[in-house]
Amino acid sequence: MSSTITCDPGARIAPVAQRVFGSFVEHLGRGVYTGLYEPGHPRADARGFRTDVLDLVRELGVTTVRYPGGNFVSGYRWEDGTGPVAQRPRRLDLAWHSTEPNEFGLDEFMAWAHAAGVEPMLAVNLGTRGIEQALDMLEYCNIAGGTAWSDRRRAGGATQPYGVRMWCLGNEMDGPWQIGARTAHEYGRLASRTAKAMRMMDPRLELVACGSSGSGMPTFGEWEREVLTQAYDDVDFVSAHAYYCEHDGDLASFLASGVNMDYFIDCLVATADHVRAAGKKTKRIDVSFDEWNVWYQHRAESVPPSGDDWPVAPRLLEDRYNVADAVVVGGLLICLLRHADRVRAACLAQLVNVIAPIMTEPGGPAWRQTTFHPFALTARHARGDVLNLSVRCPELATAAFGDVPVLDAVATLDDDGALALFVINRRTDAAEPVTVDLRGLGGHRVEQAVVLSNPDPGWSATAADPSSVGPRPLTAQIEDGHLHFTMPAVSWAMLRLVRE
Ligand code: AHR
Repeated sequence: MSSTITCDPGARIAPVAQRVFGSFVEHLGRGVYTGLYEPGHPRADARGFRTDVLDLVRELGVTTVRYPGGNFVSGYRWEDGTGPVAQRPRRLDLAWHSTEPNEFGLDEFMAWAHAAGVEPMLAVNLGTRGIEQALDMLEYCNIAGGTAWSDRRRAGGATQPYGVRMWCLGNEMDGPWQIGARTAHEYGRLASRTAKAMRMMDPRLELVACGSSGSGMPTFGEWEREVLTQAYDDVDFVSAHAYYCEHDGDLASFLASGVNMDYFIDCLVATADHVRAAGKKTKRIDVSFDEWNVWYQHRAESVPPSGDDWPVAPRLLEDRYNVADAVVVGGLLICLLRHADRVRAACLAQLVNVIAPIMTEPGGPAWRQTTFHPFALTARHARGDVLNLSVRCPELATAAFGDVPVLDAVATLDDDGALALFVINRRTDAAEPVTVDLRGLGGHRVEQAVVLSNPDPGWSATAADPSSVGPRPLTAQIEDGHLHFTMPAVSWAMLRLVRE
């Protein structure tokens, strides 16, 4: 007996939001220095941008990049990273116990984003700072000229305004670890006032209020209710952040991480809609899932330096991802797409070196981690509208989430009738035969079918061997309007079908 998926072209959830394929660059570890930026590297351009990294960023298909943090932003003085590089101050970065040399700042990021072809998404510091500095930064970015900050930008060579649309009002302000963490009421008031003032300068902005740093936060739910009660009319999005990892060898629960992400999004949307109803509002607040990934926070790689050691760009959060991690990343993307009606932006945290799909060696190569592949293939092929699939499959027991379906899947259908199907098999010990009922779609043929799996789901790519395990062809046939294929244990697959 195979599991069955039924594909109904009428069951459309919403158009794919291209911003769901966003990522995140923080001044943390080697995310920027020896990541994006390494003057003197053989592949660096005249500005110090690593072109090997830029090539991989384009291949990854990232659409939006959030910057400059993260916890870093809550102590950051954005203007330190502007003006002549030789005159920029070195500062302590309290979030990551590092030294920030400020060689790379706002103008460098905007030039890098332009080179990478991504939309910038900026965060303002609402930890140590407030409305005034947020306005200064906005003036610097979006005002054409004739004012103090816009003229400073022009003096640096950027004669055109950057026109940044999407802005995060602080970062994880619910987290006790955050510099300047606030109560929900305090933050909600500050977010509301900051947003109102920013819109007075530029009414085209799309603004993101901080939601919870995780659905396990003690204030989750109530935080969003209070923040949105204060700031509903002033913002467009509420953020969500979630990191997952395998705990104590419990691979089955780890592979079901999407169950938690579904719960998180469902609760967040319900809370936002409660505030909408209670306040008699008409507009809806969307979700910006602007930090998500696999992250092994308890490992030594994530322990910041301490004491008198304040290094520049230390190796931090440099997780090495295996095949199971990549299956989870692919599964989380399925989940984000399934919520396309409300999750209209998302950022894989992060992009280079720091819990990242792209790794670099200083002076050496840039290479792809396992997690690169499901992201790149989903970003490339998810087009048109997201379809709600009916999935009938067995369940398996997990310690963290109880019984969960062995499969998770989503599909997109574009204007030319091309269907992209994304599937994971959570079974750790057996393959799963799958039949997809396509009869509602009309005649299709398989154009491409690839699977990511390995007999050892613990296999990780390295700089020396980044490609022994990558997506490989998956055998799939269509007979009488039914697509047949078999998902290996612990696997992620993408199948693209086009009209005959
Ligand atoms: O992405 C790493 C960190 O995780 C970010 O700085 C912070 O926002 C989150 O806690």
